[in-house]
Amino acid sequence: MKKVRKAVFPVAGLGTRFLPATKAIPKEMLTVVDRPVIDYVVEEAREAGIEHFIFVTGRNKGVIEDHFDVQFELYDTLAQRGKDDVLARMQRMQPIAGQTSFTRQQQPLGLGHAVWCARDIVGHEPFALLLPDMIMQAEPGCLAQMVSLYEKTGGNVVAVQQCDPAEAHKYGIVGRGKAAGPGFEITEMVEKPPRGKAPSNFYLNGRYILQPEIFDILADQKRGAGNEIQLTDSMLTLKDNQSFYAYPFAGRTFDCGSPEGFVEANIAFSLLRDDMKDRIGGTLAGLLAEAEATLKRRSRA
Ligand code: G1P
Repeated sequence: MKKVRKAVFPVAGLGTRFLPATKAIPKEMLTVVDRPVIDYVVEEAREAGIEHFIFVTGRNKGVIEDHFDVQFELYDTLAQRGKDDVLARMQRMQPIAGQTSFTRQQQPLGLGHAVWCARDIVGHEPFALLLPDMIMQAEPGCLAQMVSLYEKTGGNVVAVQQCDPAEAHKYGIVGRGKAAGPGFEITEMVEKPPRGKAPSNFYLNGRYILQPEIFDILADQKRGAGNEIQLTDSMLTLKDNQSFYAYPFAGRTFDCGSPEGFVEANIAFSLLRDDMKDRIGGTLAGLLAEAEATLKRRSRA
């Protein structure tokens, strides 16, 4: 079985759910506490043993490439000023030369098309796919957990979580088959099922380990939900010839592509910081008590 060495990050999306914040800044560069969203996802991949980071970008996304570059003048200035802790933190995230690749999705034709744009850089080996809107809290990280399962099963592994059935139409949904190790076999997959038609409430949460045969299927994939080329539709075809396992991820996932999920992620990640937990926790408790008192007063008036 081939090791999963490469990861694809589709970062071409326009971020329309987050305007005007994303008018001039890519949504992947919005900060959760003090790091851009994309940092969390790259860190998760690195922790899972990924050695090559492939970004599928679009127009106005050049700053993502800069973020992962060596900022020589900045590092030098930090070293001269004795800011070793900040420098060490930045260098810990720094990919070494040759570990990153950037390609462009020239038209917004859907997730399936974005993944297909990475086909030559991935080549003929299994790869991880991480959707950067979704950031997770878990130790070990979601992808590392999936790699452990993959090392036993081979094939394709997708992470799933349970959603409110009323929200199932917003996601790719899988049908639950026989139990397989910590996960289960997949009976079907539907992208954005119509309300009331979802085969379960297990949604694809944005983490995948896929075999390279997906690229040939993507090359001919007809448009699906939302008139876009959907990865889920190609995975369904691949499932006819290869095994697919769902891994129910038990940690928390924040959808940073939506303002609510982004605010929640900021709170959740600040509460996991020793230097911030007490202050933020105290402020939140105070704000909640004040808001409740205000709402009560208003309802009496
Ligand atoms: C994409 C996938 C979908 C998945 C979702 C997770 O949809 O197509 O299967 O459930 O990400 O966020 P999008 O959010 O791009 O509409």
